[in-house]
Amino acid sequence: MSQQWLLLALFSAFAAPSTAGDSMTATDSLSDGGGALVSSNELYKLGFFSPNNSNRRYLGIWYYKIQVQTVVWVANREHPILDRTSVLNFTENGTLVILDQTGTVFWSSSSATNTSSPVARLLDSGNLVLMDGAGDTNVFAWQSFDHPTDTHMPGMKFGWDLRTGLNRYLTSWKSADDPSPGDYTIMIDLHGWPQVLTPDLSVVTYRTGPWNGIRWNGVPKLTANSIYNYTYVSNNDEVYYMYQLLSDAVVTRLFLDHSGAFERVVWDNGTQLWTKYLSGPNDMCNSYGLCGPYSSL
Ligand SMILES: *[C@@H]1O[C@H](CO)[C@@H](O)[C@H](O)[C@H]1NC(C)=O
Ligand SMILES: *[C@@H]1O[C@H](CO)[C@@H](O)[C@H](O)[C@H]1NC(C)=O
Ligand SMILES: *[C@@H]1O[C@H](CO)[C@@H](O)[C@H](O)[C@H]1NC(C)=O
Ligand SMILES: *[C@@H]1O[C@H](CO)[C@@H](O)[C@H](O)[C@H]1NC(C)=O
Ligand SMILES: *[C@@H]1O[C@H](CO)[C@@H](O)[C@H](O)[C@H]1NC(C)=O
Ligand SMILES: *[C@@H]1O[C@H](CO)[C@@H](O)[C@H](O)[C@H]1NC(C)=O
Repeated sequence: MSQQWLLLALFSAFAAPSTAGDSMTATDSLSDGGGALVSSNELYKLGFFSPNNSNRRYLGIWYYKIQVQTVVWVANREHPILDRTSVLNFTENGTLVILDQTGTVFWSSSSATNTSSPVARLLDSGNLVLMDGAGDTNVFAWQSFDHPTDTHMPGMKFGWDLRTGLNRYLTSWKSADDPSPGDYTIMIDLHGWPQVLTPDLSVVTYRTGPWNGIRWNGVPKLTANSIYNYTYVSNNDEVYYMYQLLSDAVVTRLFLDHSGAFERVVWDNGTQLWTKYLSGPNDMCNSYGLCGPYSSL
């Protein structure tokens, strides 16, 4: 190899776009068609996508290794983008913003605090977090786990931070191909005892009764399972339910389907399909009034 070729080869190696990292900083920009963040262990990916049978563009998070694109979070679900000119950028204040070339803003991460050296990072939990790169990187100025779409992720607090009034709840997609907010919502209701229910009583499908410290009242004791454990916290500061995976080898998601079914599914790597693990209203749990979603999901 001549020296020139060697130099060219070296230059190409350095000039080649690096594989998608898990972070972006103030001067970085993530464009539709050209950019993505991939969490460090390649579990999740953040980028622009179109749902099936749709040309609309959304910024979302999905499983990196699962071929059947399964979106777990959508940023601009209320403001679809109609072309592919948009970027995810930082504002001068260190918040994230999706805008097109005309400057139209489709979404922004609200944040009470300005961040001077902002860093956005996609964690292996599937949480997109915003932090001050010059400060404590364990303190998040904003995180997608505080603004869920239709999916309750492992490690995500489902419920309330009473100190700030933040309520983390799920709203279904409108249809399988449309992530805009649909008819179904599920949240922990603080009026009286904490309960999981849908606020629109015409479509109520769940009612679990109060938490008695061990399980939702009137439901059978949760049988131990090998996939996840769970905690329920209720004190002066917070009221939330959370589950955690016991192993990264199992991929499971708990989500509110566009038809109102509250389901836990598990990824079957053999068949390459999501298989139903437990479901809220449609199976025996609900029809026999035996258990609510969070008794066993
Ligand atoms: C997004 O940020 C990049 C890098 O800072 C900048 O070059 C670009 O003009 C920004 N795009 C928009 C639409 O503001
Ligand atoms: C999208 O379409 C593909 C191919 O028809 C199908 O396998 C997949 O299940 C669809 N995804 C969703 C979320 O409906
Ligand atoms: C930056 O913050 C100031 C004050 O909080 C606000 O008025 C301004 O609109 C923000 N700018 C951007 C680009 O978000
Ligand atoms: C945020 O930064 C803007 C300038 O970009 C400044 O005018 C504003 O006062 C800051 N807001 C806070 C809450 O620090
Ligand atoms: C649940 O499992 C995680 C590990 O996946 C562990 O860190 C956590 O302490 C467990 N929680 C409970 C309540 O057992
Ligand atoms: C999934 O199956 C493929 C073969 O179909 C295999 O190569 C891969 O290692 C499997 N992944 C897991 C996590 O088991």
